[in-house]
Amino acid sequence: MTYAPATPLRLVASGPLSGRVRVPGDKSISHRSLMLSAVAVGTSRVEGLLEGEDVLATAQAMRAMGASIVRDDDGLWTIDGVGVGGLLQPETALDMGNSGTSTRLLMGLVASHAVTATFTGDASLSKRPMGRVIDPLSKMGAEFTPSPGGRLPLMVRGIVPAVPIEYRLPVASAQVKSAVLLAGLNAPGITRVIEPVPTRDHSERMLRGFGAELMVEEIGGERVISITGEAELKPQHIVVPGDPSSAAFPVVAALIVPGSEIVVENVGLNPTRGGLYQVLLAMGGDIVFENERIVGGEPVADLRVRASSLDGIEPDPAIVPSMVDEFPILFVACALAHGRSVLRGLEELRVKESDRITVMADGLRAIGARVEEIEDGLIIDGTGGEKLTGGTAVATHLDHRIAMSFAVASLASREPVAVDDRAPIATSFPIFVPMMESLGVESRDAVTA
Ligand code: S3P
Repeated sequence: MTYAPATPLRLVASGPLSGRVRVPGDKSISHRSLMLSAVAVGTSRVEGLLEGEDVLATAQAMRAMGASIVRDDDGLWTIDGVGVGGLLQPETALDMGNSGTSTRLLMGLVASHAVTATFTGDASLSKRPMGRVIDPLSKMGAEFTPSPGGRLPLMVRGIVPAVPIEYRLPVASAQVKSAVLLAGLNAPGITRVIEPVPTRDHSERMLRGFGAELMVEEIGGERVISITGEAELKPQHIVVPGDPSSAAFPVVAALIVPGSEIVVENVGLNPTRGGLYQVLLAMGGDIVFENERIVGGEPVADLRVRASSLDGIEPDPAIVPSMVDEFPILFVACALAHGRSVLRGLEELRVKESDRITVMADGLRAIGARVEEIEDGLIIDGTGGEKLTGGTAVATHLDHRIAMSFAVASLASREPVAVDDRAPIATSFPIFVPMMESLGVESRDAVTA
């Protein structure tokens, strides 16, 4: 590993944003497409895969466990799977970089294979709690040697046969749900996950698409997901829709820069992911859904966005799982809205790539926003459309969404905001800066490497 000095990022809008852009593939769906293709029998193809560092970490791990994964010059990915039960012992530790999704889902896959694997990650990932997946996977018989606090580096000793379990999620987490379902793929019998609060359902949709026997029932207001193990997955051709979590950044940028009108194409709008767009509409955002269609089994639209006068909001905490990654950029929109926003029920944000409540509160205050931090969220008194002060540096703490949120906040600040390190953006949205430039934004820092 090389330790290059951090490259800052300062974006400036000298006029309205305009143009059409297309967001890269959905990160959650990209991870799952590689993992399931790698345990299918035969050759799968994936179009529109997000080629961000997190997804490349998943690809590398699946290769280390026996799958062949190749990208052709047109960006089509071809995966030759080893079959459920066929994962091989990796020869070295699996480096998960910054990616919590790779780590937690792969811990699930490994748990029911005859594989012992060590997971390592960067400083951010090494602080994140893994107990939430260790608990159910231990009940299935896998053994874990984590670092203190249930963190990475961590060793998993998988077990065959694993014990199918019934598990009620204690936190609303698609990663935990998916880890248990993936472990259930190779456990004899039925593994059941009960979700008191629905979370993103990409794993369920894709497992079904690969031919797994998977049932979803609504019982007493809870979602009950049952998967039959020792499955044989049939190879698929997957088209990955654009990532709504990435689209959020150009969308909010256009809303807050006066006079802007842009179209963001190819935005996945799975109902378990689209919460931000409902909230922005309720705030008065002018967002029109054009060309609605289905891509890869998921609803997709092109979003036409015009600059808008936004009102503060108090979203129902029930909407949180459908926009859990979008709160940092929503906080920016609230900081510029008319009136007060009260954003609660966000305790999960404290265990993302950074503590997104404290980090956003500190950064927003530093650039002139009025923000009060509470235990489970933020109370924000907006400027009513006036620009923020800006003119200072903010710390990103190895968190891509913090970096992009402040890069967008800079566009509505009197002086540019210096995001201290642009490198984390490559984990989920490698073309973020050129895409923003194509909308008329100027980047004040040359990248030399
Ligand atoms: C993800 C689930 C969410 C989300 C993460 C991706 C997934 O995490 O924050 O970026 O792909 O399953 P949690 O399950 O921890 O809420």
